[in-house]
This record gives sequence, C-alpha cells and structure tokens, in this order.
Amino acid sequence: MKGSFIFLIVAARPIFALWPIPRSLQAGDNLVKLSPDFQIQYAMPRPPQDLLDAVSRTIARLRSDKLQRLVVGRGESDSQRLPNAPSLTSLSLSLATTAGPVQSIMQEATKEITTRSEEYSLSVPNGGVATVVANSTLGLFRGLTTFEQLWYDDSTGVTYTYQAPVTIVNDSPAYPYRGFMLDTARNFFPVADIKRTLDAMSMVKMSQFHWHAVDSQSFPLSIPGFPQLAQKGAYSAQEIYSDSDIQDIVNYAGARGIDVLMARCFKNFSVSLPVLKQFV
Ligand SMILES: *[C@@H]1O[C@H](CO)[C@@H](O)[C@H](O)[C@H]1NC(C)=O
Ligand SMILES: *[C@@H]1O[C@H](CO)[C@@H](O)[C@H](O)[C@H]1NC(C)=O
Repeated sequence: MKGSFIFLIVAARPIFALWPIPRSLQAGDNLVKLSPDFQIQYAMPRPPQDLLDAVSRTIARLRSDKLQRLVVGRGESDSQRLPNAPSLTSLSLSLATTAGPVQSIMQEATKEITTRSEEYSLSVPNGGVATVVANSTLGLFRGLTTFEQLWYDDSTGVTYTYQAPVTIVNDSPAYPYRGFMLDTARNFFPVADIKRTLDAMSMVKMSQFHWHAVDSQSFPLSIPGFPQLAQKGAYSAQEIYSDSDIQDIVNYAGARGIDVLMARCFKNFSVSLPVLKQFV
C-alpha cells in the first residue's frame, strides 16, 4: 500500500518546462546525464532530409542552449550528484508498424488537417537509450520537440534532466488547428523575422501559420504576371516578398511541422494566379 501511494505521487509529478503539457505523462526524480557523445538514431530505411535537419538542429541546441534550472542556485545542488548519475547514450526515432509509407515532415504537415498524424510516444529511461515512436515523421518531430525541453545544463556544462524516468504515451494535440496570425500588410516583417516566428511556433507545436499577407494598407506580395501590385502597393521596394521568399517561408514552415495559410483578403482574387494557387 505504502509503495503504491509513493508511486502515485511520483507518477503525478509535473514537468514544468514542457509546453504544451502532454496528455499523459509520468516522470520520476532521478538525475540522468546526456552522454558527451549522445546521438540521435533513426530506425528507418531512408529518412527524409527535413527529419535529418530537425535532428541536427536538436543536437545543436542541446549542445548550445546552456539553459539552467529556474530555481534558486540554478540547480547547483544537482552538480554534486551528477558525477554518479547514469548517462543517456542515444535517442532512437522509429516509426510504428502501423505507420504508412515514409514521407517528409512537410508532406505530413500539409495534409488535410484532420488526417495529420502528430501522435508520438516518448520514453527516457534511467540511462541507456531513449525512444520516440510515432506513426509519421511529423509525430517523430513532435516527440523530438518534447525531448528537447527536458534538458538543463549545470555550471560545469553537464547536460542533464532531474526528472527521469519520463514516459509519455500517445501524446497528441487537443486541437488540430493551432494557429498564429501575422499581419504583414499593416507592418512589413522581413523574411528572417518570419522564420524566427516560425521557430518559436514549432517549439510549442503550433500547426498553422496564418499569413495575413496583404491588405488595403500595403501589398508586399510579388505576384508573377502582376508586378505592378507590389511595385505600387508595397511600402517600399525593399518591403516586398519575392516569389522565392514565399517558397522559402513555405518550405521553412513545412519542415517545422507548420502549414502556411495565406489569408484571402480580397473578394475574388483569380485562382489562376500561380503563386496564390496553393493557398486559396
Ligand atoms: C499509431 O496508430 C495506431 C493505429 O491508429 C495507434 O493505435 C497507435 O497508438 C499509434 N501509435 C503512436 C505512437 O502514435
Ligand atoms: C471570380 O473568379 C472566377 C475565376 O477567375 C470567375 O470565373 C468568376 O466570375 C469571379 N466571380 C466574380 C463574382 O467576379
């Protein structure tokens, strides 16, 4: 009885750094370090390039973020216990047997909204190999995002979690449409700023970039065949999104699990306009 009571308390332990909160979460209170040669592996024949890139970004952030715990002393007391803590050697990403053919994160993220598969399960044991299992590369990407949020650095540069073992089963979004709207007509935002916004969105697993691109205040979109719209409508020649800027943003978003929805701000913009075709 006493044992199961303690277990319940441990199982209910929150992980405050996780956002959004997973549907099911069990966490312990053990310290586990990331091994200095920690790796992320994939158990699939030909992983798509955007998944490989996402893995590289996760590895780079785990090495460079240097986030310390938001507590008095910044987790200094953990440092004394860390030398004896077990190490996590790798994270293994694999598709469930129920998964369909391997597609890129972008292909999965731009499917019809109710058919996207974002579910994943994550297990971080007390050392050894952690696993993420999902039915799609998009699900693996969501699991990777959750995994990233578990780690802190101590003042000596050891990367660790203090809440192992962590078990998340079938986490999936409460709402398929998790949108953020940016109005680039009233205020122009450079491409780099939009990408920074997309980075932040993907960190909290948002799924739709609602690009309110043009309005009566300005027309910053370059439309092939209709150059005068942007020439006369943009605030300046520097404040225009070229064809390749738009494609760049759509690709950047897709690789981060985000679908781009361009606002239909005008009554009947001909659907034959090639660039807008994919949005309207
Ligand atoms: C994969 O899909 C199957 C069938 O819909 C489901 O039972 C399973 O929980 C899913 N697995 C994960 C890890 O999302
Ligand atoms: C809207 O655009 C379509 C395609 O160009 C055209 O066929 C249709 O007549 C337009 N409708 C109106 C009300 O202008």
